[in-house]
Amino acid sequence: MKILSVETSCDETSLALVEAAGGLAKPNFKILKNLVASQIKIHRPFGGVVPNLAKREHLRNLPILLNRLAKTNYSKIKIKKQKIFRTVDLIAATVGPGLEPCLWAGVNFTEELARKWNKPLVGVNHLKGHLYSFLLPQKRVNSGLFQTPNLKNLFPAVALIASGGHTVLLLLENLIRFRKLGETRDDAAGEAFDKAARMLGLPYPGGPEMEKLADCGDSTAVIFPRPMLNQKNYDFSFSGLKTALLYFLKNSRKNAKMRENGKKRQSENKQKSSRDFAPFRAFTDKSDIAASFQQAIIDVLTAKTFRAAQEFKAKTILLSGGVAANKSLRRTFARKTKENQLNFFAPPPKFAADNAAMIAAAAYFQILRKKNGQSPKLQADGNLSL
Ligand code: KG4
Ligand code: ZN
Repeated sequence: MKILSVETSCDETSLALVEAAGGLAKPNFKILKNLVASQIKIHRPFGGVVPNLAKREHLRNLPILLNRLAKTNYSKIKIKKQKIFRTVDLIAATVGPGLEPCLWAGVNFTEELARKWNKPLVGVNHLKGHLYSFLLPQKRVNSGLFQTPNLKNLFPAVALIASGGHTVLLLLENLIRFRKLGETRDDAAGEAFDKAARMLGLPYPGGPEMEKLADCGDSTAVIFPRPMLNQKNYDFSFSGLKTALLYFLKNSRKNAKMRENGKKRQSENKQKSSRDFAPFRAFTDKSDIAASFQQAIIDVLTAKTFRAAQEFKAKTILLSGGVAANKSLRRTFARKTKENQLNFFAPPPKFAADNAAMIAAAAYFQILRKKNGQSPKLQADGNLSL
């Protein structure tokens, strides 16, 4: 089945053409094309996503991407360009959760296409897209991190979805039956990275910038709290961590100022005692702060996920969402799963971020279940839950 999918829940406009086969037992996805138009340049001056600007960009980009999709030469499947759309079996769009004006841009666009081409239409939950992104094609790498999943002996599985808007832990009985074990009570993990980045003066999007800075920092330099780490539930909370960073920076600045004043006084008095500066902490390097902050998030995500795996005797850990692009987090999960003899699957970093290919994967399972099948009209819902 060929699925044309659209993703517009936040700041990436994405269109994909995916060939899905194998059913629930052996699903496999061939990505014929996955186009992503990034809006980073548009939102960067504002330090975050501006919903109405994002909607405007989606409306502008969708027809451009569709045109590019049509002009692709699909030589591998021996279909001439321009004729590709005749072979589409299903159209899918993200209907939530996300920024509602942005979701409507994708919903209206796909409804129009479905009507024009007389194709069935299905609305997809964005988080299910992330959940199934581990099934998108990957290359095998020595570390075993990018193995192609074999569904035999995979379940039960614990899945962590960590994105800019959500941090959710799920227990999967099989590919389509799952229940929520816990979620964030306030900020999502990605949101915490983004807010911390802003406090450190880094540009949007914050997560990747924090990771770059953290790469050359010492993660033990600052002891940040590990919120809810020891609570016997599977919920998360990251807003306290953000506040801890705020106070740390305020204190550092105050101390730095006091050091400056101390220095001035010292030169005025021409006193040479180095003990003058002793009570003031030396200014911590930004990279050390970023590394320590990142470590606090990684520690909490790892502890909760692996505790759930132990309690529910999971055989597999699945990691997804934009934060899953973080290499330290992936390395930690890879190491811990090896130690605990668990399978570990995460999408390749480019499919960890928002993309339409993952929406096609989720649409395929939705159609196989029939229950939530196609409909001529879709309803966008910014707060849609799993
Ligand atoms: O899934 P996603 O692309 O969009 C949402 O559904 O929200 O996730 C975006 C989030 C942002 O908060 C971004 O800062 C974070 O994922 N992110 C990262 C990294 N790359 C993206 N966080 C930490 N390290 C990264 N390398
Ligand atoms: Zn997402």
